[in-house]
Amino acid sequence: MDRRIFIQAAVTNLGALALGAPLASALRGIQNTTRQETGAGQMNTPPDQAKTLRKINLVAEPSPFEVPSRGVFQRWLYNGEFPGPEIRASEGERLRLTVKNNLPEGTTIHWHGIPLHNAMDGVPDVTQPAIPPGGTFAYEFDAAPSGTFMYHSHFGLQPDRGLVGPLIVEEKKHQVDYDREFTLVLSDFLPGVPAPLGRSTNAQGARMAMQTPPYVVLLINGRPPDAPAVFSVKTGERVRLRLINPSGTTIYRFAIGGHPVTVTHTDGRPVEPFPVDSLYIAPGERYDVIVNAKNSGAWPIAASSDNDLPPARAVLRYTDSNDLRPREGALPEGLSGGRLLRLADLRALDLPEQRKPDRTFSLVLAGGTMGTGGMMESKESGKMMSQEWTMNGQAYPKAAPLEIHQGETVRIRLDNQSAMPHPMHLHGHFFRVGNVIKDTTIVWTHSERVELNFAANNSGAWLFHCHNLYHMEGGMTRLVRYI
Ligand code: C2O
Ligand code: CU
Repeated sequence: MDRRIFIQAAVTNLGALALGAPLASALRGIQNTTRQETGAGQMNTPPDQAKTLRKINLVAEPSPFEVPSRGVFQRWLYNGEFPGPEIRASEGERLRLTVKNNLPEGTTIHWHGIPLHNAMDGVPDVTQPAIPPGGTFAYEFDAAPSGTFMYHSHFGLQPDRGLVGPLIVEEKKHQVDYDREFTLVLSDFLPGVPAPLGRSTNAQGARMAMQTPPYVVLLINGRPPDAPAVFSVKTGERVRLRLINPSGTTIYRFAIGGHPVTVTHTDGRPVEPFPVDSLYIAPGERYDVIVNAKNSGAWPIAASSDNDLPPARAVLRYTDSNDLRPREGALPEGLSGGRLLRLADLRALDLPEQRKPDRTFSLVLAGGTMGTGGMMESKESGKMMSQEWTMNGQAYPKAAPLEIHQGETVRIRLDNQSAMPHPMHLHGHFFRVGNVIKDTTIVWTHSERVELNFAANNSGAWLFHCHNLYHMEGGMTRLVRYI
């Protein structure tokens, strides 16, 4: 791609990318730059090798954030922005991200999906002490492999205050051919202070079990449905969309009016292109899709949720069309019909052969009832019973680590015996699920079984957890550990 444009994109703040960075239409065909074995990405080198360094500063601090037509809210943000600034690097480049903590409590940042050195993984008390208020910490790692990633605080419920952002590693050789790209960050917006879900007392005095935090609106790139982000395209272009879901709990169904989308990447890893009308995207997941712009007009881009809020919305607008907005209230047909992506439809490019596992763990996902873990303090509601979410009956941190060894092929079998879906995420590794490579995958409700396979090639203490923030904090977390 055009190096000059790339550098510009990297140093300006990437809210600007909402306008779309035109990219040199580059190499045709498909190139897989990552060697993988049993779904593990290439190893990231330890943080002591000299390379060209891209330095980026992030400041986590309380900041006002305006949701157009809804008001100004006090949030905790990176560099005062929501989502946080888009970090872009070129594959193989070294990143040094200096994080200043201006929050009234500790924090860390997790570089979600990057198989980096364990010490850079940003999990408080596991890979580093939390960065104290007023403190600074420099994360350093290779931007590799290429793909669509994200970053977020890994300290308690902080992501639901707004501490999330996109992280893009540009491939050196294009894996797909496209003319223009946009990043779409889907989020569920909480106006207040996040608190553990539990029993709360409603207006009638009845005790209620809360399953979802009191989100008020679903946003795309920080914008609400009635003041949507507009993505401008020209007829004939191939448009790459990087869909990222750093939401606290929301699983979206994503579709675009008048346009199918062709799925090209699962969590940053390339797949054989597959056209669908819609797809599900859960917290922690990323999908890259290509849209062929050949249906001029102004079309709704929408992401409906599994809660009661109206769908998140944006606009796909052709610059050669007189239409500025989609018809009032128009939603993509793909939200309710057409071809919905199933993971089994997809096949990774250059899929490694499945190896016989050296070690298998079988984990039952359960919970959602008030735990035996006792009372939890919550600033807003005082004392209340917290919800407990478990794997094989154990709620982290009172849970046995999954002990493995370097060089092993590890299988994790998941069986969801609960009434909620769980997007399960493994730090520091890619895994194979079905015929694709991912780092986060949904285990749907009511006895869905999913099998993950990964190569133990990046030793350390890694988290494996549900990416629903409240399930993670409620105990659905384990350590995966090896030296
Ligand atoms: Cu994005 Cu431990 O998570
Ligand atoms: Cu969950």
